Amino acid sequence: MAETILIASGKGGVGKSTATLFFGRAMAKQGKKVLLIDADTGLGALDILLGVADKTMNTWLDVEREACELENAFLPVADNLTLLPSPKEYDETLSDDVFVRLVSRCGESFDVILIDAPAGIDRNLKRAATACEKAVFIATADEVSVKGAAAAAAETEKFGISRENMRLVINRFQKKAAAKCRLLNLDGVIDRSGVQLLGVLPEDKKIPQSSVTGVLPGDKSKFQKAVERIVLRMDGQTVPLVL
Ligand SMILES: Nc1ncnc2c1ncn2[C@@H]1O[C@H](COP(=O)(O)OP(=O)(O)OP(=O)(O)O)[C@@H](O)[C@H]1O
Ligand SMILES: [Mg+2]
Repeated sequence: MAETILIASGKGGVGKSTATLFFGRAMAKQGKKVLLIDADTGLGALDILLGVADKTMNTWLDVEREACELENAFLPVADNLTLLPSPKEYDETLSDDVFVRLVSRCGESFDVILIDAPAGIDRNLKRAATACEKAVFIATADEVSVKGAAAAAAETEKFGISRENMRLVINRFQKKAAAKCRLLNLDGVIDRSGVQLLGVLPEDKKIPQSSVTGVLPGDKSKFQKAVERIVLRMDGQTVPLVL
Protein backbone atom coordinates (compact mmCIF):
# COMPACT_ATOMS: atom_id res chain seq x y z
CA MET A 1 0.00 0.00 0.00
CA ALA A 2 1.14 3.53 -0.76
CA GLU A 3 2.42 5.95 1.83
CA THR A 4 -0.22 8.71 2.02
CA ILE A 5 1.00 12.21 2.81
CA LEU A 6 -1.17 15.29 3.31
CA ILE A 7 0.30 18.63 2.22
CA ALA A 8 -1.54 21.32 4.19
CA SER A 9 -1.06 24.78 5.67
CA GLY A 10 -4.19 26.34 7.12
CA LYS A 11 -3.43 29.70 5.53
CA GLY A 12 -3.77 29.92 1.77
CA GLY A 13 -1.16 30.85 -0.78
CA VAL A 14 1.93 29.69 1.10
CA GLY A 15 3.08 26.99 -1.32
CA LYS A 16 1.13 23.75 -0.78
CA SER A 17 0.54 23.10 -4.49
CA THR A 18 4.10 24.12 -5.37
CA ALA A 19 5.51 21.78 -2.72
CA THR A 20 3.19 18.93 -3.77
CA LEU A 21 4.34 19.29 -7.36
CA PHE A 22 8.08 19.51 -6.69
CA PHE A 23 8.11 16.79 -4.02
CA GLY A 24 6.10 14.56 -6.35
CA ARG A 25 8.46 15.17 -9.25
CA ALA A 26 11.53 14.47 -7.10
CA MET A 27 10.02 11.26 -5.72
CA ALA A 28 9.10 10.12 -9.24
CA LYS A 29 12.71 10.75 -10.27
CA GLN A 30 13.80 8.46 -7.44
CA GLY A 31 11.81 5.75 -9.21
CA LYS A 32 8.74 5.77 -6.97
CA LYS A 33 5.30 5.54 -8.51
CA VAL A 34 3.72 8.79 -7.37
CA LEU A 35 0.09 9.90 -7.39
CA LEU A 36 -0.79 13.54 -6.77
CA ILE A 37 -4.38 14.00 -5.61
CA ASP A 38 -5.69 17.53 -5.94
CA ALA A 39 -8.11 17.94 -3.02
CA ASP A 40 -8.57 21.68 -3.55
CA THR A 41 -12.12 21.45 -4.84
CA GLY A 42 -13.03 24.36 -7.12
CA LEU A 43 -9.57 25.90 -6.92
CA GLY A 44 -7.40 23.01 -8.04
CA ALA A 45 -4.05 24.18 -9.40
CA LEU A 46 -2.03 21.05 -10.06
CA ASP A 47 -3.42 20.58 -13.59
CA ILE A 48 -2.24 24.10 -14.48
CA LEU A 49 1.14 23.72 -12.79
CA LEU A 50 1.65 20.39 -14.58
CA GLY A 51 0.63 21.91 -17.93
CA VAL A 52 -2.30 19.54 -18.49
CA ALA A 53 -5.24 21.88 -17.83
CA ASP A 54 -6.33 21.65 -21.47
CA LYS A 55 -6.70 17.85 -21.31
CA THR A 56 -10.08 16.20 -20.77
CA MET A 57 -10.07 15.03 -17.22
CA ASN A 58 -12.14 12.85 -15.00
CA THR A 59 -11.91 13.81 -11.35
CA TRP A 60 -12.03 11.87 -8.12
CA LEU A 61 -15.65 13.02 -7.70
CA ASP A 62 -16.53 11.31 -11.01
CA VAL A 63 -15.12 8.11 -9.51
CA GLU A 64 -17.03 8.63 -6.25
CA ARG A 65 -20.23 9.11 -8.23
CA GLU A 66 -19.40 5.98 -10.25
CA ALA A 67 -19.42 8.02 -13.45
CA CYS A 68 -16.02 6.58 -14.36
CA GLU A 69 -13.61 3.84 -13.32
CA LEU A 70 -10.76 4.83 -11.03
CA GLU A 71 -8.16 3.88 -13.66
CA ASN A 72 -9.83 6.24 -16.14
CA ALA A 73 -9.44 9.19 -13.78
CA PHE A 74 -5.67 8.73 -13.45
CA LEU A 75 -3.92 11.23 -15.71
CA PRO A 76 -0.27 10.28 -16.38
CA VAL A 77 1.78 13.49 -16.52
CA ALA A 78 5.40 12.26 -16.55
CA ASP A 79 7.38 9.08 -15.92
CA ASN A 80 6.14 7.65 -12.61
CA LEU A 81 3.95 10.70 -12.00
CA THR A 82 0.15 10.65 -12.18
CA LEU A 83 -2.48 13.25 -11.33
CA LEU A 84 -5.96 12.65 -9.94
CA PRO A 85 -7.60 16.02 -10.63
CA SER A 86 -9.98 17.92 -8.39
CA PRO A 87 -13.66 18.47 -9.18
CA LYS A 88 -15.15 21.95 -9.62
CA GLU A 89 -17.44 21.45 -6.63
CA TYR A 90 -17.98 18.85 -3.96
CA ASP A 91 -21.12 16.78 -3.55
CA GLU A 92 -22.05 17.34 0.10
CA THR A 93 -24.40 14.37 0.05
CA LEU A 94 -21.39 12.02 -0.18
CA SER A 95 -19.85 10.93 3.10
CA ASP A 96 -16.16 11.60 3.69
CA ASP A 97 -15.65 7.85 3.98
CA VAL A 98 -16.16 7.61 0.22
CA PHE A 99 -13.06 9.76 -0.33
CA VAL A 100 -11.08 7.82 2.25
CA ARG A 101 -11.97 4.52 0.55
CA LEU A 102 -11.07 5.97 -2.84
CA VAL A 103 -7.60 7.01 -1.61
CA SER A 104 -7.15 3.57 -0.14
CA ARG A 105 -7.98 2.00 -3.54
CA CYS A 106 -5.44 4.33 -5.20
CA GLY A 107 -2.87 3.01 -2.73
CA GLU A 108 -2.88 -0.35 -4.48
CA SER A 109 -1.38 1.17 -7.65
CA PHE A 110 1.21 3.64 -6.27
CA ASP A 111 4.14 3.84 -3.85
CA VAL A 112 3.38 7.37 -2.62
CA ILE A 113 0.24 9.51 -2.66
CA LEU A 114 0.57 13.24 -2.00
CA ILE A 115 -2.72 15.01 -1.30
CA ASP A 116 -2.68 18.74 -2.01
CA ALA A 117 -5.09 20.05 0.65
CA PRO A 118 -7.21 23.15 0.33
CA ALA A 119 -6.52 26.18 2.53
CA GLY A 120 -8.56 26.38 5.72
CA ILE A 121 -9.13 24.09 8.67
CA ASP A 122 -12.68 23.01 7.94
CA ARG A 123 -14.38 19.86 6.67
CA ASN A 124 -12.40 19.92 3.42
CA LEU A 125 -9.16 19.59 5.39
CA LYS A 126 -10.76 16.87 7.49
CA ARG A 127 -11.72 14.83 4.41
CA ALA A 128 -8.19 15.01 3.01
CA ALA A 129 -6.47 14.44 6.38
CA THR A 130 -8.59 11.43 7.27
CA ALA A 131 -7.28 9.69 4.17
CA CYS A 132 -3.61 10.20 5.16
CA GLU A 133 -1.18 8.69 7.63
CA LYS A 134 1.35 11.54 7.54
CA ALA A 135 1.21 15.31 7.06
CA VAL A 136 3.62 17.97 5.88
CA PHE A 137 2.68 21.54 6.79
CA ILE A 138 3.91 24.38 4.65
CA ALA A 139 4.49 27.79 6.23
CA THR A 140 6.24 30.96 5.23
CA ALA A 141 8.32 32.66 7.93
CA ASP A 142 5.72 35.17 9.08
CA GLU A 143 3.34 35.24 12.05
CA VAL A 144 0.09 34.79 10.11
CA SER A 145 1.29 31.82 8.10
CA VAL A 146 2.76 30.13 11.16
CA LYS A 147 -0.51 30.61 13.06
CA GLY A 148 -2.23 28.87 10.12
CA ALA A 149 0.19 25.95 10.19
CA ALA A 150 -0.20 25.57 13.97
CA ALA A 151 -4.00 25.58 13.64
CA ALA A 152 -3.93 23.11 10.75
CA ALA A 153 -1.62 20.80 12.74
CA ALA A 154 -3.93 20.95 15.77
CA GLU A 155 -6.98 20.12 13.63
CA THR A 156 -5.16 17.40 11.73
CA GLU A 157 -4.22 15.76 15.03
CA LYS A 158 -7.94 15.56 15.86
CA PHE A 159 -8.49 13.92 12.47
CA GLY A 160 -6.12 11.12 13.40
CA ILE A 161 -2.56 12.03 12.32
CA SER A 162 -0.20 11.92 15.30
CA ARG A 163 2.41 14.65 15.92
CA GLU A 164 5.23 12.23 15.25
CA ASN A 165 3.88 11.79 11.74
CA MET A 166 3.82 15.55 11.10
CA ARG A 167 6.61 17.65 9.64
CA LEU A 168 7.08 21.31 8.76
CA VAL A 169 8.48 22.86 5.59
CA ILE A 170 9.35 26.54 5.70
CA ASN A 171 8.84 27.98 2.24
CA ARG A 172 10.02 31.15 0.48
CA PHE A 173 12.76 31.56 3.09
CA GLN A 174 15.17 34.44 2.62
CA LYS A 175 18.24 34.22 4.82
CA LYS A 176 19.06 37.93 4.61
CA ALA A 177 15.52 39.05 5.46
CA ALA A 178 15.49 36.70 8.47
CA ALA A 179 18.90 38.01 9.60
CA LYS A 180 17.51 41.57 9.43
CA CYS A 181 14.42 40.43 11.41
CA ARG A 182 12.11 41.03 8.45
CA LEU A 183 11.11 37.40 8.57
CA LEU A 184 10.88 35.05 11.54
CA ASN A 185 14.01 32.97 12.03
CA LEU A 186 13.78 29.18 11.73
CA ASP A 187 13.56 28.58 15.50
CA GLY A 188 10.69 31.07 15.72
CA VAL A 189 8.72 29.26 13.02
CA ILE A 190 9.37 25.80 14.49
CA ASP A 191 8.47 26.87 18.06
CA ARG A 192 5.27 28.63 17.06
CA SER A 193 4.07 25.86 14.71
CA GLY A 194 4.72 23.05 17.20
CA VAL A 195 5.82 20.79 14.33
CA GLN A 196 9.23 19.22 13.75
CA LEU A 197 11.20 20.70 10.84
CA LEU A 198 11.58 18.67 7.63
CA GLY A 199 13.24 21.33 5.52
CA VAL A 200 13.47 24.84 4.16
CA LEU A 201 12.69 25.95 0.60
CA PRO A 202 14.20 29.24 -0.52
CA GLU A 203 12.40 32.04 -2.34
CA ASP A 204 12.91 31.50 -6.08
CA LYS A 205 11.47 33.97 -8.55
CA LYS A 206 11.23 31.30 -11.25
CA ILE A 207 8.49 29.52 -9.28
CA PRO A 208 5.67 32.09 -9.71
CA GLN A 209 6.81 32.74 -13.28
CA SER A 210 6.88 29.06 -14.23
CA SER A 211 3.14 28.67 -14.89
CA VAL A 212 3.52 31.37 -17.56
CA THR A 213 7.03 30.74 -18.89
CA GLY A 214 7.15 26.97 -18.38
CA VAL A 215 10.71 27.44 -17.07
CA LEU A 216 11.36 25.67 -13.78
CA PRO A 217 14.26 26.23 -11.39
CA GLY A 218 17.23 24.27 -12.79
CA ASP A 219 18.55 21.03 -11.30
CA LYS A 220 21.45 22.91 -9.73
CA SER A 221 19.31 25.73 -8.29
CA LYS A 222 19.11 26.20 -4.52
CA PHE A 223 15.39 25.50 -4.72
CA GLN A 224 15.75 22.18 -6.51
CA LYS A 225 18.59 21.06 -4.23
CA ALA A 226 16.43 21.93 -1.21
CA VAL A 227 13.56 19.86 -2.66
CA GLU A 228 15.89 16.89 -3.14
CA ARG A 229 17.16 17.12 0.45
CA ILE A 230 13.58 17.19 1.76
CA VAL A 231 12.58 14.15 -0.27
CA LEU A 232 15.62 12.22 1.03
CA ARG A 233 14.66 13.14 4.62
CA MET A 234 11.11 11.88 3.92
CA ASP A 235 12.82 8.58 3.09
CA GLY A 236 14.38 8.57 6.54
CA GLN A 237 17.86 9.67 5.44
CA THR A 238 19.90 12.14 7.49
CA VAL A 239 20.70 15.12 5.31
CA PRO A 240 22.25 18.37 6.61
CA LEU A 241 20.22 21.56 6.63
CA VAL A 242 21.65 23.95 4.06
CA LEU A 243 20.28 27.50 3.87
N1 LIG B 1 9.68 29.05 -2.98
C1 LIG B 1 8.95 29.92 -3.66
N2 LIG B 1 9.54 31.03 -4.22
C2 LIG B 1 8.81 31.93 -4.88
N3 LIG B 1 7.48 31.85 -5.05
C3 LIG B 1 6.84 30.79 -4.53
C4 LIG B 1 7.52 29.77 -3.81
N4 LIG B 1 6.60 28.85 -3.42
C5 LIG B 1 5.41 29.27 -3.88
N5 LIG B 1 5.53 30.43 -4.55
C6 LIG B 1 4.47 31.21 -5.17
O1 LIG B 1 3.50 31.51 -4.17
C7 LIG B 1 2.20 31.48 -4.73
C8 LIG B 1 1.33 30.50 -3.97
O2 LIG B 1 1.87 29.21 -4.17
P1 LIG B 1 0.89 27.93 -4.20
O3 LIG B 1 -0.19 28.12 -5.19
O4 LIG B 1 1.76 26.74 -4.30
O5 LIG B 1 0.27 28.04 -2.74
P2 LIG B 1 -0.93 27.23 -2.10
O6 LIG B 1 -0.65 27.13 -0.64
O7 LIG B 1 -1.14 25.96 -2.83
O8 LIG B 1 -2.16 28.21 -2.38
P3 LIG B 1 -3.71 27.91 -2.18
O9 LIG B 1 -3.96 28.00 -0.71
O10 LIG B 1 -4.40 28.97 -2.96
O11 LIG B 1 -3.96 26.52 -2.71
C9 LIG B 1 2.35 31.10 -6.20
O12 LIG B 1 2.41 32.29 -6.98
C10 LIG B 1 3.71 30.42 -6.23
O13 LIG B 1 4.34 30.48 -7.48
MG1 LIG C 1 -2.88 25.22 -3.78
